[in-house]
Amino acid sequence: MSGGGRKSNDYGAAAYWDARYSSGSSPAGGDGEFFDWYQKYSALRPLLRAHVPASSRVLMLGCGNSLLSEDMAKDGYQDIVNIDISSVVIEQMREKHAEIKQLTYMQMDVRDMSLFDDESFDCVLDKGTLDAMMCADDTPHGASKMLAEVARLLRPRGIYLLITYGAPKERIPLLNKGGCCWYTAFFVSPTPGYQSKMDKGAPQPAMEEVALTEDGQLPPDYVLKDPESHFIYVCQKSNPAHGVNSVATDPEETMNEK
Ligand SMILES: C[S@@+](CC[C@H](N)C(=O)[O-])C[C@H]1O[C@@H](n2cnc3c(N)ncnc32)[C@H](O)[C@@H]1O
Repeated sequence: MSGGGRKSNDYGAAAYWDARYSSGSSPAGGDGEFFDWYQKYSALRPLLRAHVPASSRVLMLGCGNSLLSEDMAKDGYQDIVNIDISSVVIEQMREKHAEIKQLTYMQMDVRDMSLFDDESFDCVLDKGTLDAMMCADDTPHGASKMLAEVARLLRPRGIYLLITYGAPKERIPLLNKGGCCWYTAFFVSPTPGYQSKMDKGAPQPAMEEVALTEDGQLPPDYVLKDPESHFIYVCQKSNPAHGVNSVATDPEETMNEK
């Protein structure tokens, strides 16, 4: 992960993030009070509205001081539970959003969410938190524990929406280890401001859906327009009766299974 310049690189530990949130430092582009990694709600909204009804019970993993939950609440989402390992940021956000009843904040480690019941969420949202876990001292063990918890917490057909810098060759094998059967739709999203780095006049490439190969890889001839693009995995928890540890990439096939 980038930013910070600290010596400790345990991005899965409270100490690292507490220090960061206490100092008010934020990566380039943040205003110190709020900072959204990768993408903002405006860019994600079409995908979220298409896959996550506003009445859903949503769990925001590693919420940090992102504006995503606030923007979702303003847009009609009714129940968003925000967790983060940093008690510092949880206190800050609880105070900032005290008036927004749709938002609750809890200090919690994504590797152990045992305070929540099985199948108690319709959607789990993850923007940058699996990435932090992949840079933690216990990687990839901690990341797998987190994904097993996500699978446990989701209702059947619930959605795990993962926004990450991790390309399919790194993320699909990890998802397959999570003890869950997923149907995954996959999107590529250029970084905000990509166009300003490019020739003026050409249209900003939009978020695009890409059909992964049968073994969950980008098609061999696929070229990223923005090499720094983010990747979005819309993972739907499918029926465990159909077996575990498989990522189906063919929507037709998955629909027929239901
Ligand atoms: C890259 S930041 C993303 C923040 C926010 N989701 C966003 O999009 O701006 C990763 C977040 O994960 C949190 N985090 C890291 N390890 C965690 C863990 N083990 N359990 C819960 N949260 C964790 C950090 O405190 C940090 O807020």
